[in-house]
Amino acid sequence: MIYPIVVYGHPALRKIASDIDQDFPGLNKLIADLFETMYYSEGIGLAAPQIGKTVRIFVIDGKPAAEDEPQMSDFKKVFINAQISERSGELVPMNEGCLSIPGLREEVLRPSHIRIRYFDENWKPFDEVYEGYAARVIQHEYDHLDGIMFTDKVNLLRRRLIKGKLTAISKGRFEADYKTILPGQKIKS
Ligand code: NI
Repeated sequence: MIYPIVVYGHPALRKIASDIDQDFPGLNKLIADLFETMYYSEGIGLAAPQIGKTVRIFVIDGKPAAEDEPQMSDFKKVFINAQISERSGELVPMNEGCLSIPGLREEVLRPSHIRIRYFDENWKPFDEVYEGYAARVIQHEYDHLDGIMFTDKVNLLRRRLIKGKLTAISKGRFEADYKTILPGQKIKS
């Protein structure tokens, strides 16, 4: 099932998501729906809060980025109950976008390396280190679980400059080829 994407300004994006148990009802369906919604919306990653589910799950498929980032060609993963335990290396600038903030891209500084513990869709535990583009996407999606949007991390001057744009987006003034839920609209469960 393809879900509409919750748009910037909606309180659902600012909640702290909860860990889930192995008996979480409908987990496989939720994971399948996250991928389906992400592919339909042409995203590289999607976190459950972006479809209005306040649980600590995000999915990534880096294939669309593989031309510029070869490491992403086989990077298709589900992250459940993820915990970033270390962030290290240089702060690297990179342009980011987000399906919840259609039409806006801004430079964000993030640490180059992370160490992350998580479970995959079969509840197999992992403890891995990532760098480069993968570390970038993981950190972006992980932030959604804590109610953090990439625009929170844009430098102060730029943040002031994009304030009006963000307000416009939250009022529905954007173009998107996918369905969205605006602030004030109710999320169907
Ligand atoms: Ni995002």
